Formats: sequence, structure tokens, C-alpha cells
Amino acid sequence: PNEPPLVFHWFPFIGSTITYGMDPPRFFKENRAKYGDVFTFILLGKKTTVCLGTQGNEFILNGKIRDVCAEEIYTVLTTPVFGKDVVYDCPNSKLMEQKKFMKVALTTEAFRSYVPIIADEVTTYFKKSPDFKGQSGTVNIPPKLAQITIFTASHALQGKEIRDKFDESLADLYHDLDMGFSPVNFMLHWAPLPWNKRRDHAQRTVAKIYMDTIKARRERGETGSQDIMYHLMNSTYKNGVPVPDHEVAHMMIALLMAGQHSSSSTSSWIMLRLASRPDIMEELYEEQVRSLGADLPPLTYEDLAKLPLNQAIVKETLRLHAPIHSIMRAVKSPMPVPGTKYVIPTSHVLLSAPGVSATDPQYFPNPEVWDPHRWEPDSPNAPSLVRNEQDEEKIDYGYGLVSKGASSPYLPFGAGRHRCIGEQFANVQLQTIVAMIVRMFKFRNVDGSDKVIGTDYASLFSRPLEPAIIYWEKRD
Ligand code: HEM
Repeated sequence: PNEPPLVFHWFPFIGSTITYGMDPPRFFKENRAKYGDVFTFILLGKKTTVCLGTQGNEFILNGKIRDVCAEEIYTVLTTPVFGKDVVYDCPNSKLMEQKKFMKVALTTEAFRSYVPIIADEVTTYFKKSPDFKGQSGTVNIPPKLAQITIFTASHALQGKEIRDKFDESLADLYHDLDMGFSPVNFMLHWAPLPWNKRRDHAQRTVAKIYMDTIKARRERGETGSQDIMYHLMNSTYKNGVPVPDHEVAHMMIALLMAGQHSSSSTSSWIMLRLASRPDIMEELYEEQVRSLGADLPPLTYEDLAKLPLNQAIVKETLRLHAPIHSIMRAVKSPMPVPGTKYVIPTSHVLLSAPGVSATDPQYFPNPEVWDPHRWEPDSPNAPSLVRNEQDEEKIDYGYGLVSKGASSPYLPFGAGRHRCIGEQFANVQLQTIVAMIVRMFKFRNVDGSDKVIGTDYASLFSRPLEPAIIYWEKRD
């Protein structure tokens, strides 16, 4: 009786699965217009309650641990891919400790060392790639950015030894692991299907590569570069148990997988947006010349702060193209929705979609326009009510301080106890990739228009439809 309205559908079980799956943001907006901020739809037989707007974001993302549960939903997909005893294959308190161990390695000092590594990977990639021979050409850009993302992330986060393996065995193995993340696996994760067999084989093989590396490092007594693996190898849980090798290995997989899809999708969108707006790509180039010098010296971590438009490009692209469109939670006790008469029963799943508030005209004038300049204070499109996170009240769930409220309309990295720990790394990685590509290339759409391609929602993380072909030209 006190349940939210149910989205109309013709068939039981299937419910709204198809219309939701084809275009989740459109599904949310259309039903928000019909039913309001809180409504339920049938997703593969499951009553799924969507809570939109800033209050909906707050309700779900800052839900109490006794009310909401992430691991119950995600474990079927993530555990076969990452391996046992990490992330969603353990109690939430253990995940909070693991997030702390991972975050410790993501310091300013570490980022300072990452920028030259990432810049160098980008330059080398384009020098070597047969697709960028000559002065100009056309290319399907997303697969290129996927490679650049994995090369830069693995080199920065896991060291040169692991990075070099991505030229051979690891690339295919990670591809097989990836197949475990297809949405059909929400239902078929257990099935002895060919792609699941490859996933399981890849998980064992990759985990063994990391465990052999850990063993070799320990035997050598290596403290060398204090990278993430080093930090994890030397971390101890609050109960006094040192992190076992298999958990270190599984966290290494989780870190790379968590970042790969979101960063590679975001960098692809950035390049496609720049191809649709060559004038902004020129502005980015001029910004570097003006702020860093006409000779464009090797890029440093400090330089990134001197390039506000370069930063805004990432921020604005994540506003319109957040790779995670749906964040899900199981309901553990009946949850009254504040300000409404609704109570969400434990038989429902909750779904948060912060992308909806990030494209709400109430907060973002001309929300559908990709306008990196809107992040400048005097822009006519400047957002309202997007708070500066530094000024907000903080809370510690066990992995460092995060904003207490989730009421900002702009939350591409989530909020609360499950909030992203990779935000700073992603920013450093993306800003460095963009800055280096801008130094080397001019992009435009093949037909010279300002069109942008549609979104592929068929995989768990949304990304550009392919082929997404752009025209490139080298700068002299
Ligand atoms: C969690 C987005 C990059 C590691 C999250 C969540 C979001 C997100 C929305 C919350 C998920 C939820 O509440 O269920 C993004 C975006 C990225 C990005 C948009 C890039 C543009 C990264 C990178 C790493 C990473 C590079 C690793 C270095 C994690 C981890 C969690 C997380 C460990 C915690 C999961 C949890 O506590 O349940 N991310 N992420 N992410 N992300 Fe990211």
C-alpha cells in the first residue's frame, strides 16, 4: 500500500528490462515525468525502486549499513573476476579496510611520479601505433584509448614489470576477465558457458602472475619503489592479520578493473567531444602554451593545476557521460523514504542514478550542452548548488574522510561508504592523457560537423557506440 508507483509494463518478469536496458537515462527521465522522483520498475523479475534527484542520491548512497547492502548485488559479477576475499566477497568492514590500504598508495607524492610515466606512455603509443603513421588520417578512437588507459594505469599503479606483460599475455587475459562483466552474467554468472570458463581460467592465471611477483619481491627483500603492491604487501588488518598474498593479488585485479572501464570510456568521450568542437581543442593547446611556455616542457603533476580548462574538460565530460549510470543496493530493512508516504520493503532493490541530477536544468542551465566553460564562475551556464567538496562536512567510514552529505547534484564518483577511491588517480590520468594528445594532434569529425555519437549501454559501464571514427591531423 505504501509502495512507490509501479512503471506500467505488459509482461511479468521482463517488465521494463528492455526499455531500461536500451537507454537508462531516457527511461529515468520519462518515468520521472510520469511518476515523480520515486518509482519502481521490474528488472529481470526484481522490483527495482529508483530514487532520483539530490534527495534520492542522498537516500541511497548515504543509506545506513543496516538498511542497504552493495555486496549482495555485485558479488555474483565481481567475485569470479577479482577472486575471493576482497571487495564484495567479504563483510563491508573488511572492504573499508581494503579501501584504506589501496588509498594509502594514492598520495600526492605518488601522483608526482605518475605524470611523467603516463605522459611517456602516451607519446610512445602514438609513435609506435601503425594507425597514426603519416600526417593525417581517420581512426576508430575508443579501442585506442582503451589500450592507452590500460598501459598508463598498469604502468603507474602496478609497475613496469607488470606493464610490460600487457604487450603480450596480460592483454588477452584481462580481455577474458572483462567478459565476466557482461550484464547477462547477473543471471548466468554460474553457468558453464565458454566465456565463463575463459573468465575463470584468466582469473587464476592473472592472480598467479601477481602472486609470483609478490613472492619474488619478498625473496629479493625488495622495498624499492613504494608502489601499491608494496603497500598492500605490508598492510595489516585491525585484527592483527597481515593481508595474505592472494588478497593482494585479487586487489590488484580489482584496482585495474575498477579504473579501466570508467577511465577508458571517459577518455574516449573526451576525444569524441573534442572532435566535435575543434575550437575547444585549440583553446586547450593555447592554454598549455600560455601557462607552461611555448616550448611545452615535459608535463609535471604541478602543471596540471595550471590548466583549468584541461581540468574542466574532464569534469564536464563526466557530467554528461558518467560511465556508471546505475548504482544498486539490496534493501536489508524496510526503508521509509523521507518526505513521502512510501516505505521500500526488503524484497526490492534500490537504484541510484546521479547522472539524472547532473543533467537536470534545475542545477545546470542548458544541461544537454557540453560546455567545459560552464565550470568558470561567471559563465552563463554555471551550475547552481554544486558545492565545493573541500568546504563540506566530512565523515570517515574507515577509508579516509569523505563528504558527509550526498546532496550535490554532481556525483560521478558516487558518495558515502562506497564512494570511489580512484577519483584523484583518474583525474591525473585523464588530464595527462588529454594534455599530451592535445600537444600532438588536431581532431575533428570526419564530416566536419559538431555531431556526437550515441551511447552503448549494453555493457555494465556505458561507453560510446562503435565505430566512433574521427579525423586526426598531426601538429607540426
Ligand atoms: C567506486 C566511479 C575510476 C576504484 C566507484 C563508484 C563510482 C565510481 C560511481 C561508486 C559505486 C557504488 O557506489 O556502488 C568512477 C569513475 C572513474 C573511476 C567515473 C573514472 C573516471 C576509478 C579508478 C579506481 C577506482 C581509477 C582505482 C584506482 C574504485 C573503488 C571503488 C569505486 C575501489 C569502491 C567500491 C565500493 O566501495 O563499493 N567509482 N571510478 N575507480 N571505485 Fe571508481
